[in-house]
Amino acid sequence: MDVNHQSAIFDFHGVSMSHYFTDNWDEVQNFRARPDDVLIATYPKAGTTWVCYILDLLYFGQTSPEPQPSIPLHERVPFLELIKPSLPTGKDLADQLPTSPRLIKTHLPIQFVPKSFWEQNVRIVNVFRNAKDNAVSYYHFCRMNTTMPEPGDWSTFLQNFMEGKVVYGSWHDHVNGWWDKRQTYPKIHHLFYEDLIQDTGREIDRLCSFLGLSPSAEEKERVTSEVQFDNMKQNKMVNCSTVQSMNQKVSPFMRKGTVGDWKNHFTVNQREAFDEDYKQKMKKSTLQFRSEV
Ligand code: A3P
Repeated sequence: MDVNHQSAIFDFHGVSMSHYFTDNWDEVQNFRARPDDVLIATYPKAGTTWVCYILDLLYFGQTSPEPQPSIPLHERVPFLELIKPSLPTGKDLADQLPTSPRLIKTHLPIQFVPKSFWEQNVRIVNVFRNAKDNAVSYYHFCRMNTTMPEPGDWSTFLQNFMEGKVVYGSWHDHVNGWWDKRQTYPKIHHLFYEDLIQDTGREIDRLCSFLGLSPSAEEKERVTSEVQFDNMKQNKMVNCSTVQSMNQKVSPFMRKGTVGDWKNHFTVNQREAFDEDYKQKMKKSTLQFRSEV
């Protein structure tokens, strides 16, 4: 199948998805989680890579034989539902992970999460990012990545984002679904991109207490420094420079890493329409985001 077909959006059980994230469906649904797995669950572009790397360093940073591991992060933290021609599937990579715990990434909306994760009572780290910055980041990502559908111009993409016609569907439904889960599932930790920007050390402390980790002060210092934006941008194992489908000349994967870049993209009209739509879609939600820090 050609790239355009694979990346095209279609309705999948009520959510806009593409073949790259649904063609391995049965295998993914039958995935066997283990009680010590850690699942990192996010809407795309919420800061997934950042949190995956923090967890990778917290768990394995000290035991790694080299100062910086030589295996790309996307292999150390497999993307569960991803299936790309001539590459191992995310599910197979996860099955074969030699680490304990296994760190596994997903963008699935909550209703699509394989049931084994719930049965095994797996710890879940859920990352949120304010909708406007999330939309901007997603737009640039779709421009540079052939795995994603062509975004069109910014206003076209923004309209599609508001209508949930982007891969993984409505941002609003996605975040609300994950947020509501905390009422029935205690082993979930919600983390906000904006909080991580504001105080990375404090958020790492919170993560550690959720995960039952107690790194030394030096170790924590080392992790905090290694995951700063500029360091990750230079780090070939995390900056996706090895990913073939990404054209980093169009837009780098480690693009800006800030809160409030939406102000450089939204017109006044776009902002008003977005906020109005947001108010409607989020009116029953207790989720509070900051779109500036
Ligand atoms: P921008 O496009 O706004 O720069 P994901 O990993 O979910 O795809 O999210 C990618 C977004 O997280 C990008 O946002 C990227 O720059 C940002 N990001 C990645 N690592 C970061 C870091 N260490 N500090 C701040 N932002 C980071």
